Amino acid sequence: MVSLFRKRKVAQVPVRDERFQIQVRGLHKRFGDNEVLRGVDLDIERHQINIIIGGSGQGKSVLLKHLIGLIKPDQGQILVDGMDIVPLKDYQLNEVRRKFGMLFQYAALFDSLTVEENVAFPLVEHTKKSKAEVREIVRAKLDALGLHGTEKRFPSELSGGMRKRVGLARALVLEPDILMYDEPTTGLDPIATKNVDNMIAETAERLGVTSVVISHDMASTFRIGDRIAMLNEGTIVVVGTPAEIMHNDHPVLREFLTTSGVVGHR
Ligand SMILES: Nc1ncnc2c1ncn2[C@@H]1O[C@H](COP(=O)(O)OP(=O)(O)OP(=O)(O)O)[C@@H](O)[C@H]1O
Ligand SMILES: [Mg+2]
Repeated sequence: MVSLFRKRKVAQVPVRDERFQIQVRGLHKRFGDNEVLRGVDLDIERHQINIIIGGSGQGKSVLLKHLIGLIKPDQGQILVDGMDIVPLKDYQLNEVRRKFGMLFQYAALFDSLTVEENVAFPLVEHTKKSKAEVREIVRAKLDALGLHGTEKRFPSELSGGMRKRVGLARALVLEPDILMYDEPTTGLDPIATKNVDNMIAETAERLGVTSVVISHDMASTFRIGDRIAMLNEGTIVVVGTPAEIMHNDHPVLREFLTTSGVVGHR
């Protein structure tokens, strides 16, 4: 008798590897005619700063949103600590999302809430901590990020760099395992950029979190990245350590590096 199950397509689930906190395989996503992701394979290394580079509109933010289950792929797997999150229902995804802290592109603070209220928000939403406990955690996070005394201010009263730090404080309050940053230094001057870079590196080191950073700032990328991947035309075209990336011959990558001034023309 022919087995009913014989024709079922067997998913190509990757072998679980403890080194990687997130493993993406064969990820496809289209919006109408726009095929944004065309088979993305990507490993995110645990406790490391993983940077995703690529041109504007290449799908970096879309990829990041897949990793926390904010967008469902058309096809592919996303393993977080070995578990495929793609088939999960919303209530199950909420559990998974607790592992993540996210600093969205443009910081995305609530304008009508004070700094203190912004940072307290995830704690109020997701925990049953008392007001006093919440206030203490928020104060400690703000202090750690050099934001002491800004509690009662509104986002509009802060500089861009300060807003990024408030965004990070908010991303950190639930003590996530994985921190994701979508272009954290866009719109900042070189000194503020360096401060944000330091903040990402210190956070990674002090808390041992896994970091995923989207960037098109090549100087930042080489300053803080442990592992760099380039997204281009829907796939990851190059991946490696900064030294490997520096010497890789992929034409789009070379153009990226020379135009940004990180390396000279050869
Ligand atoms: N919700 C959506 N609906 C339809 N199209 C979308 C949606 N989100 C993103 N796109 C499209 O997907 C493509 C990739 O967008 P994405 O925001 O990921 O680019 P990006 O690489 O992050 O660019 P940038 O560096 O400018 O932020 C774009 O063409 C965009 O218009
Ligand atoms: Mg983006």
